[in-house]
Amino acid sequence: MLQNSRIPGFFKKSVNERQNLLRESAALDEASVERLNHGGIDLATADRMIENVVGVYSLPLGIATNFLINQREILVPMVIEEPSVVAGASFAALLAREGGGFTAEADAPEMIGQIQILDVPDVEAAERALRENRAEILAEAGQADPVLRKAGGGPRDIAIRRIESSLVGPFLVLHLILDVRDAMGANAVNTACERIAPRIEKLTGGRVNLRILSNLADRRLARARCTVPVQSLAFEEWSGERVRDGILEAYAFAAADPYRAATHNKGIMNGVDAVVIATGNDWRAMEAGAHAYAARSGTYTSLSRWERAPDGSLAGFLEMPMAAGIVGGTTRVHPLAQTALKILGVRNAQELAQVIVSVGLAQNLAALRALGTEGIQRGHMRLHARQVAIAAGAKGEAVEKVAQRLVEENAIRIDRAEALVQELR
Ligand code: MEV
Repeated sequence: MLQNSRIPGFFKKSVNERQNLLRESAALDEASVERLNHGGIDLATADRMIENVVGVYSLPLGIATNFLINQREILVPMVIEEPSVVAGASFAALLAREGGGFTAEADAPEMIGQIQILDVPDVEAAERALRENRAEILAEAGQADPVLRKAGGGPRDIAIRRIESSLVGPFLVLHLILDVRDAMGANAVNTACERIAPRIEKLTGGRVNLRILSNLADRRLARARCTVPVQSLAFEEWSGERVRDGILEAYAFAAADPYRAATHNKGIMNGVDAVVIATGNDWRAMEAGAHAYAARSGTYTSLSRWERAPDGSLAGFLEMPMAAGIVGGTTRVHPLAQTALKILGVRNAQELAQVIVSVGLAQNLAALRALGTEGIQRGHMRLHARQVAIAAGAKGEAVEKVAQRLVEENAIRIDRAEALVQELR
């Protein structure tokens, strides 16, 4: 088990050194480390995954450090093309650590399947028939996936909804609630819905059209909390109180305005999606669920909440649907997804959900702290300068020195960096 996710100076190390650290601290075996060097899948695997394959497209895989979630030390693999995200998550995790880390929980992995029932001759009678035959419907749905049943999952309930008016008139919707255990669950849900459709037609006298998962997975929510002591927020000329209040004002903006909420939530999804992709999960499903959930009141708003705790510290909370699994689908096919899960050390889908929601909250904290104080460009530029310095051949302490000069001179260019590296030598 990982002893400490706090690895000072991780960002300054070479890729090789970071891999060595993973070997030791995350007990990553040789094969897993080796896979990191090759982007995961080969052409033949890619060709089996989707249609009309002509190549493989790689993205950077980084490790966010400093995460303490439910008192467990966790290194977080993140796949993302955008600079500053991994650094932001690591930095915010360090802040959250000062207040004891993240506390996270996840609901049972219950997904919703929808069955659209049209042309129902007698709605009252149809609803009654569905209610009276609940047990039979669930039993039939349960036959769809014996493996899931063996794993302790399966159908849990039904819910009946009326769409009173639509472009095609009124219709009924049956929700099938399925516990998908450690899977994301789309296949299991779709199969079960298709299986029970003929019975639903018989019971209601109607005609079934759609039989499909809902991405508004609002029975499978995950929640994370963190508290940052106000003094831990202070930096340079910014007092902790000022930083906290800047964050609270930024949050108030997102809570009140959909234009801002969209960007605020995008920042959360920077963290969420990066882990979702690293673990081979469906990030479009995650996006769809998140934004639908953010609009559940009828007005699109912030997914997170920030407040001043009674002792003056900053308290954050994030709740969102979390349809992510550790078995099946790409999670199984993509070798790097397996490596990512190994690094995380999660034992089931609920633990993965707890990590993802915590990373979302961390990412939000990082963005609001930057936006509510110096703005995000300065940090971006610093990181960019460091990357340019490394590309110019700077090593060890020279990386910081060269980067610092590039920023001071406002000349973050490879030619200047190369000249500075020479100068230092
Ligand atoms: C950029 O990818 C994300 C931010 O815009 C998020 C935010 O504005 O809260 C920085």
